[in-house]
Amino acid sequence: MIRLLLKTLFLEILLLLLHHSSAVDDDDLSPFPKNFLFGTASSSYQYEGGYNIDGKGQSNWDNFTHGGRSMIVDGSNGDIAVDHYHRFQEDIDLLEALKVNSYRLSISWTRILPKGRFGEINWPGIDFYNKLFDALLLKGIQPFVTLSHYDSPQELEDRYGGWLSPQSQEDFAFYADLCFKTFGDRVKYWVTFNEPNYQVPLGYRSGIYPPSRCSGLLAMANCKEGDSEKEPFIAAHNIILSHAAAVHLYRTKYQVEQRGRIGIVLQQEWYEPMSNSTADKLAADRARSFTFNWFLDPIIFGKYPKEMENILGSILPEFSTNEKKKLKKALDFIGINYYTASYVQDCMHTKCDSRFGISTTEGSYMTSGNKNGVSIGESTPFSWFNIYPQGMEKTVTYVKDRYNNTPMFLTENGYAQQDDPNFTLEDQVNDFKRIQYMENHIEALSTAIRKGADVRGYFAWSLLDNFEWIYGYTIRYGFYHVDYSTLKRTPRLSATWYKQFIANYTEAKFTGIDNLLQTT
Ligand SMILES: *[C@@H]1O[C@H](CO)[C@@H](O)[C@H](O)[C@H]1NC(C)=O
Ligand SMILES: *[C@@H]1O[C@H](CO)[C@@H](O)[C@H](O)[C@H]1NC(C)=O
Ligand SMILES: *[C@@H]1O[C@H](CO)[C@@H](O)[C@H](O)[C@H]1NC(C)=O
Ligand SMILES: *[C@@H]1O[C@H](CO)[C@@H](O)[C@H](O)[C@H]1NC(C)=O
Repeated sequence: MIRLLLKTLFLEILLLLLHHSSAVDDDDLSPFPKNFLFGTASSSYQYEGGYNIDGKGQSNWDNFTHGGRSMIVDGSNGDIAVDHYHRFQEDIDLLEALKVNSYRLSISWTRILPKGRFGEINWPGIDFYNKLFDALLLKGIQPFVTLSHYDSPQELEDRYGGWLSPQSQEDFAFYADLCFKTFGDRVKYWVTFNEPNYQVPLGYRSGIYPPSRCSGLLAMANCKEGDSEKEPFIAAHNIILSHAAAVHLYRTKYQVEQRGRIGIVLQQEWYEPMSNSTADKLAADRARSFTFNWFLDPIIFGKYPKEMENILGSILPEFSTNEKKKLKKALDFIGINYYTASYVQDCMHTKCDSRFGISTTEGSYMTSGNKNGVSIGESTPFSWFNIYPQGMEKTVTYVKDRYNNTPMFLTENGYAQQDDPNFTLEDQVNDFKRIQYMENHIEALSTAIRKGADVRGYFAWSLLDNFEWIYGYTIRYGFYHVDYSTLKRTPRLSATWYKQFIANYTEAKFTGIDNLLQTT
């Protein structure tokens, strides 16, 4: 305990030093606009647990993790997760302690519509979210709500193949309508989809996420069926149109009265060309188009990126004239999840020594965290996670320039800590690396804001350690450590840091919807 106290003291001193060298240390020069949202992010399947109680239906992730074929490294699932379903009040107290003014979460589709539009509304599920939103607002914390964060009803998968069918658009609109109607008096920030640009390739190309469909050389799972070369583009197409349907509905039926905002969240890794060659620079452009602009170009410009059209030809589905009209500027804000960066090497003109680049439908490029054995940034135990704060500024600036400075939120950013059973609790909570990571990334973000990027919020992933998909419980991202045998939450040093940081740079309390609208 004494040691812990000493370490805390040490942290205070460290923060003081960091603070003095920091570019964002003067209140008057705060780069963050008034009403900037500082929050933490979460998702239903990773947090809630309660997977089959109070009338909840089976989701695709319930089906996948229970099916015995998932590749989750510790064989775990989200049945209990961090039991947020039962502990939400305690967790909101933790949010209050951090003094955040917003909380990003997702609604579990099957908790309120167990069988999509083919069954009844589940009122106990509605009741749960009513209580959750009310409890947040009581503490002055704005809910920032995602409709689809990877989990969807298994019923829709069974009936018509989920996102592969245009019928999914009707289901998504039905679900979105219910949410706007029921919660829209209190929820002013809506996100249709979280990271469809990861969900789709993982579900329909490599097959390591549900519905685990894949084929040929791109398969990374033992899929029963699928077409890795074609299906990702069909699923993405239906998700893009589902997004547009929900936005159209919100704008025509609810927005005037409810006065909220609606957008989509994508993950963007920053891509640096491996060399100064034109081929590698074009490969980095292709990488951005095949992973990010893939979704945003249609939603904002009404068409897929040129790079994709040129390479994919007829594999890429087409939008009808009517759909194109609905798609243009079909969002109020762009959500960006930024964690890491990698080098990109051309595989179109050069032969690549990797499984990547073996198919043109992936864009014919290869990514790597290293160049000649040197990592792009500080490396971590995870090959995919190299620390590159400059990528934060570059990503935000890229999105600003490409999409005419559409309002942005940094909807996720966080530090992955490997779980080691030999660590003591003390080791687990002394997360200096996380503090340094966030400090540097927020500083890079503030540089982008100073240079004119319209960024309106930052959400750290995550409040708590939680179920990290394919990594199960083996990676920890929380400001609070979770002991999975007791579910006890223990603050890490980063929790103290975030609280101080917010207190120093923001008006923590949200000052009302009118101010939000003023700046939009
Ligand atoms: C997953 O869904 C399929 C199709 O409905 C079903 O046959 C299977 O039993 C389900 N698996 C689990 C573990 O519930
Ligand atoms: C590219 O060229 C610039 C300017 O000549 C140089 O500073 C940089 O190191 C080069 N980058 C690579 C990857 O070779
Ligand atoms: C934990 O400690 C034991 C005994 O020292 C060692 O054998 C084991 O490899 C360690 N586990 C990890 C994950 O480092
Ligand atoms: C907040 O401000 C105080 C007083 O200036 C300073 O001691 C502290 O280091 C700052 N904390 C953070 C996290 O920036």
